[in-house]
Amino acid sequence: MKKKTLLQAMLGAAVALSSCSHDTSATSPDGRIRAQLSLDERGVPALRIDVDGSPLLEAPRLGLEADGVNLASGFTVEHVERQSLDVTWTQPWGENRRIRDHHNETAVTMQNPEGVALTVRVRLFDDGLGFRYEYRTPADSLRITDEHTTLRFAQDGLSWSIDGSYETYELPYREQPLSAVERANTPFTFHLGELYGSIHEAALYDFPEMHLLREGPLSFKAELAPLPDGVKARVKGCFVTPWRTLQIGRRAVDLINSALILNLNEPSKIDDTSWIRPQKYVGVWWGMHLGTQVWTQGPRHGATTKNALRHIDFAAANNIQGVLFEGWNRGWENWGGNQQFDYVEPYADFDLERIARYARDKGVELWMHNETGGNIPDYEAQMERAMKRYAELGIHTLKTGYAGGFRDGYFHHSQYGVQHYQRVVELAARYGIMLDVHEPIKETGIRRTWPNMMTREGARGMEWNAWSEGNSSEYLCTLPFVRLLSGPMDYTPGIFDIYYDRAKADPGRIQWNGDNSRCSIKTTLARQIANWVIIYSPLQMAADLIENYEGHPAFRFFRDFDADCDWSEALQGEIGDWIVVARRAGERYFLGAGTNAEARTVVQPLRFLRPGVTYTARIYADDPASELRTAYRIEERQLTSADSLRIVMAPDGGCAVTFEPLGK
Ligand code: NOJ
Ligand code: CA
Repeated sequence: MKKKTLLQAMLGAAVALSSCSHDTSATSPDGRIRAQLSLDERGVPALRIDVDGSPLLEAPRLGLEADGVNLASGFTVEHVERQSLDVTWTQPWGENRRIRDHHNETAVTMQNPEGVALTVRVRLFDDGLGFRYEYRTPADSLRITDEHTTLRFAQDGLSWSIDGSYETYELPYREQPLSAVERANTPFTFHLGELYGSIHEAALYDFPEMHLLREGPLSFKAELAPLPDGVKARVKGCFVTPWRTLQIGRRAVDLINSALILNLNEPSKIDDTSWIRPQKYVGVWWGMHLGTQVWTQGPRHGATTKNALRHIDFAAANNIQGVLFEGWNRGWENWGGNQQFDYVEPYADFDLERIARYARDKGVELWMHNETGGNIPDYEAQMERAMKRYAELGIHTLKTGYAGGFRDGYFHHSQYGVQHYQRVVELAARYGIMLDVHEPIKETGIRRTWPNMMTREGARGMEWNAWSEGNSSEYLCTLPFVRLLSGPMDYTPGIFDIYYDRAKADPGRIQWNGDNSRCSIKTTLARQIANWVIIYSPLQMAADLIENYEGHPAFRFFRDFDADCDWSEALQGEIGDWIVVARRAGERYFLGAGTNAEARTVVQPLRFLRPGVTYTARIYADDPASELRTAYRIEERQLTSADSLRIVMAPDGGCAVTFEPLGK
């Protein structure tokens, strides 16, 4: 025993010496965040992260494990490279058009006796960091069996997350002490001492997604979604992993305002992005979820020619760029069965060519919908033919869906899933098609590299209100601080018929996905409007039946709204409690505020408006005189950047404002 201790001490001294000869630390540009890479006595890399001189998180173990090749230990440091960057780049669309990438990078290259070289690249920004593994091995290919990355918090705190699942993100949020979390997906958001933070990943390609699995009282191990044979990933002998990321902020809203995930992705691979344009859209969709229409042909078929033309007219008359049709194509009878759809052939009562022509003449974009039911081989066999056909018809927007298990034991979130979703993105880019993906792989910032990957679902969206207990206002106050940190979401906001009066009056309404008799929207109408601003999506839907918007005074907000914003800021809020967000598109500003089940008054300084300009503010607010969730008021005022707005919100309420420069 004594001998072993002596040997350990000697080895420890050697390691200390080799670390001493290389400075393996990295510091954020403002000096507040410091990361220190080290090797333990077995040559296993570790990382320590301090903020303002205090430990926040430690990764006592880094690296991967593979069958037959040692990727995990025996490393000594070969060399350290440093780089700094401070550039501002522009994206074709996004919350903010211009983004500053200001970071310091330290890349530590290590070698083990088996001939494996590992570079741990750590990139530090003022709002957090990312690190990734770059392996060069003598093997041609490798079977990755595990990831060792372990993250240990320095103290307990509070966290917000969904359960870690290989199949779905449509799960409720849990607010839990860090010490109580067993398994969680990312983004995994926490509040610890003076800091807010969120763990996620960036640039997920050709690898399974990562979630967190408890390993000790305050420590979590990266867990990779497996392939059917238990292997986590099949990779080449030289490969690079996604970034493991940590966003850090003083205020909860700092996490929303951070561009760290985008900054850790590569610039656009699409040279001409002029065809990629944000849109507002309506669609034949909500009726099916309410149970008053169906996807299949028959008397209640939603996607008929007549209905299509009516929707196109409505869009053209209301400054709405796109119209989505679900149930237009043959095969919906097979949904939940053999999951075989035809992605080209329309149902007989949907005259696709006529509808596409009509939409073109009216200047409206037609959206196609491809529900795959999770039948990947079938979709991959058809998708190129389908996209070619859509391109011929002048269609540039496609909503895909994966509602159903994949075949042969593959998980949605496995390497197989990641590869498939990416193949669709790249193929769509070739045919000039923008994507909205439901039941997707989570966003990790690839929209920077593939800006036709516009938006995705990847959380409980509006549909849950049609046939389940629904999404609470607290859920809606959590979403921006967790799921939305990863990127845009097609939540499909904006239901005005809060109690489903129209559906309830339909004697033929069917149950779909369970009992729908007691379902309703869980927020006020003003909050439904505010969600168009709060829940960022470059493809933003007004999800209600268009008959519920026709003639409704509050629909003016959506008509005026611009989904193509230039600047955004989350102004104030606390996770699960409330939030205020502002966006600018051209010269106009939009503000959205929302609260949880508590009535709340928030004072919001309007410093974000252009100084010296007077704006007409059109305020869509809750009506405190009524307990009905449908009650709202619209008020007009003239305001400047020197003013503050008192936002009075009912329980489950909200407020939305358009600011238009006077005289424009
Ligand atoms: C689930 C999607 O989230 C929803 O938007 C769609 O209507 C159904 N699947 C059918 O594809
Ligand atoms: Ca869904």
